[in-house]
Amino acid sequence: MHSLNSVEKDQTEKLFENDNGDERKILTDLGYSEKAIYYYLEKPYMGTLPDADQVSEMLGTCGDTLKIFLKIDHNTIKDIRYQVLGCPGAISAAMAAVDLVKGKNLEYARKIDDNDVFNQLEDVPAKKHHCIQLAVKALHKAIDEYKNGNGRLKNMECRPVCSAPGDCCKNKEFNFNALTAQDAK
Ligand code: FES
Repeated sequence: MHSLNSVEKDQTEKLFENDNGDERKILTDLGYSEKAIYYYLEKPYMGTLPDADQVSEMLGTCGDTLKIFLKIDHNTIKDIRYQVLGCPGAISAAMAAVDLVKGKNLEYARKIDDNDVFNQLEDVPAKKHHCIQLAVKALHKAIDEYKNGNGRLKNMECRPVCSAPGDCCKNKEFNFNALTAQDAK
């Protein structure tokens, strides 16, 4: 497993200072890298962009939902947020995808694939790779819809179909039972 650089390590250690360690241990035992755990716990790009130029949504076969907000200027992704109603794999993958495409042009971002996101995460359990695919598909869909001029989804709220009810964009409280059930998928 690739080691964290010093900045990431500092951030991670700071993040976990007040953590009781249980959550980190569970995720580590499941096979998440420190970097993936950092993305999951910190959720640096979780939320919405009120002035987004494109809002798109992707529903996974697992029932989890990713909504993506793009702020685009001169063919460049100026800002990006995800709302994720899903598992730690989907959340960490979405956050990692943002770090890969923010500030990049649309053509570059459209070429980001599952391997790129996996490499950014460094490691997640094999059974969570489909969650990476979901985050990437959502990104591709948003770019395609922006280019096709499909516009914004209107009046979209978080759906009441969350397979990990303690683990969503509106509630950062972690639900160990939800994690265990979710990761067993
Ligand atoms: Fe559905 Fe991870 S995105 S289980």
